[in-house]
Amino acid sequence: MHNYKFFIFGCIFTSLTWSISLFMYWKLNSKHIDLYSQKQILYPRSTYDYTNKQELKYLKSHIRLEELGVIKTDNDIYIRDKGYKDHGFNALISLRLGDYREHLPDTRHKLCSYLKYDQNLPEASIIICFYNEHPQALFRTIQSVIRRTPYNLLHEVILIDDYSDHNNLHETVNSYIVSQNLQNIIHLKKTNKREGLIRARLFGAKLATSQILIFLDSHVEVNIDWIQPLLTRVRDNRTQIIAPIIDIIQPDTFDYKSSPLVRGGFNWGLHFKWDSLPKGSLITDEDFIKPIKTPTIAGGLFAVDREYFSEIGEYDPGMNIWGGENLELSFRVWMCGGSLFIEPCSRVGHVFRKHRPYSAPNNEDTMARNSLRLAHVWLDDFKKFFISKRLDLINIKYGDITERKELRKKLGCKNFEWYLENVYPEILLPTDNIENVNKKLKIVDRPAFQPWNKRIRNYTAKFLINLSNSKLCVHPLNGYQTKNSKLVLRPCIQNMEQIWYKTDKEELVLAKLLCLDSSSGKPVISKCNEIGSTQRWKYSDNTETALYNLAAGTCLSVNIKKVNAEIVMDICTNESSLNKWNLIEIF
Ligand SMILES: *[C@@H]1O[C@H](CO)[C@@H](O)[C@H](O)[C@H]1NC(C)=O
Ligand SMILES: *[C@@H]1O[C@H](CO)[C@@H](O)[C@H](O)[C@H]1NC(C)=O
Ligand SMILES: *[C@@H]1O[C@H](CO)[C@@H](O)[C@H](O)[C@H]1NC(C)=O
Ligand SMILES: *[C@@H]1O[C@H](CO)[C@@H](O)[C@H](O)[C@H]1NC(C)=O
Repeated sequence: MHNYKFFIFGCIFTSLTWSISLFMYWKLNSKHIDLYSQKQILYPRSTYDYTNKQELKYLKSHIRLEELGVIKTDNDIYIRDKGYKDHGFNALISLRLGDYREHLPDTRHKLCSYLKYDQNLPEASIIICFYNEHPQALFRTIQSVIRRTPYNLLHEVILIDDYSDHNNLHETVNSYIVSQNLQNIIHLKKTNKREGLIRARLFGAKLATSQILIFLDSHVEVNIDWIQPLLTRVRDNRTQIIAPIIDIIQPDTFDYKSSPLVRGGFNWGLHFKWDSLPKGSLITDEDFIKPIKTPTIAGGLFAVDREYFSEIGEYDPGMNIWGGENLELSFRVWMCGGSLFIEPCSRVGHVFRKHRPYSAPNNEDTMARNSLRLAHVWLDDFKKFFISKRLDLINIKYGDITERKELRKKLGCKNFEWYLENVYPEILLPTDNIENVNKKLKIVDRPAFQPWNKRIRNYTAKFLINLSNSKLCVHPLNGYQTKNSKLVLRPCIQNMEQIWYKTDKEELVLAKLLCLDSSSGKPVISKCNEIGSTQRWKYSDNTETALYNLAAGTCLSVNIKKVNAEIVMDICTNESSLNKWNLIEIF
């Protein structure tokens, strides 16, 4: 019986990538910083020309983040939607943000800003691999590194184009580097064929020449003093691999939010997950700036001593494209005498894409292949837990693992049982009895994910949404309790079907139950996800106002004023009464 609960958790998390799970974690974190929320709402009357360089420059310094998403033309819609498909984020906003964001919130604990770092830290080679990345997302990654890394600590940026085939991306990136006069510091190289993240990184690491390597994703923005804590720890002990805290750049709005202090774990499906810290870890202020010992790392971002990386066997070059390499590295490092830490004073914002926008050649399930490789090399008898969970993988070929097994022998590594007992004692085994489970649960502060730990919604107003110059109101087609119900116009009546509750987070909740949501292109009511973006609505006034959605960049509208007309999303600046609403307050 006791396994049942964890089985459910397992099911949830095996279907998510690590980034989405952090995203969920972030929802529960009340301390995030909302970049522009204090500023006054002027919405939606934007008249800026985002293609005009002069205006773009002005925008970057003056405009509120939410205005960057405004859809003004059909071409804007095209850019936005193609961006979601090709990149998993709102490319219109990425484009308008341009190549550098000057003001990011300092998400570190306040004590971090008092830390003094050694002036003579070793230099870093920063390795960034990309495949069909959105150019501005890549440029922001580069510029943030160039501008937020002390000059004397940055040896080089090695930019590996993993055989991108979108719109001359390689040439675009190359001319950008030249136009910015960065040829001396940025070395752009292209692989000879599609290698995948793992082999592309190995290719990059071979070219690097400084003492410390730092791997970054191609859609990040590093934050203030991000590099010093990483370099300090690696210099002080070359067998430690150090990761920053991964802050959250919201994929619909590019809002930058702080992440909570968590550490990496995994489940028996061999998926990475985030865990809470052990009980009592965060009591004094100082606790918030201590390095966090972590059983695994998420894999996208970390610093490592270059020679040590080579000594412990880099990555498994037999792994394809993506997936599992972070767990393989994590197990190997711990079992073979090294250690992994997360450094809370180092913050790097990462765009949490809505989906992985590319597949592997021939649609190979590389996560499965790579997980099998790592299970057979590192998990000893414990691999049975993985294999019995994934009987579907029984016929998957995972290639020759002799060399990796020899590596394990050569390095004289400890066994997996040692790793579990000493590094990840709280992991639940399918064979645990109820007593063991209770003992393990006591180690952590609280279960990492508490679906019941919902924010108590703070309702600040309630109203009907009445189409201007009509007696019609927004009404759910299939009833107020039906998720994903579309919305239509119906004669106004003050009942559950029409009373919207506004929250302090700018959600509109019908009957205090489901949230107005633009994520499926058309407005629907869906489960409140507390992420904001597609469920965040702005308006300027209670009468004759537009209702603007932050993620969509468009406004609530109808095509015709009549009973049962469908509610749609439309360009806000379309001057008509079909997107003007009266919010009729109910007391
Ligand atoms: C360096 O870290 C390793 C684990 O990675 C540890 O065993 C060793 O004691 C540390 N060395 C020093 C000098 O702190
Ligand atoms: C909706 O607003 C219009 C004015 O634009 C008003 O005439 C009408 O009475 C309103 N409907 C309700 C139910 O209040
Ligand atoms: C609810 O939101 C309002 C408006 O933002 C704020 O003034 C109030 O303090 C909030 N109440 C609670 C209990 O958070
Ligand atoms: C906006 O208005 C124009 C002209 O009235 C119309 O053709 C168009 O369909 C409207 N909606 C959108 C999404 O452009």
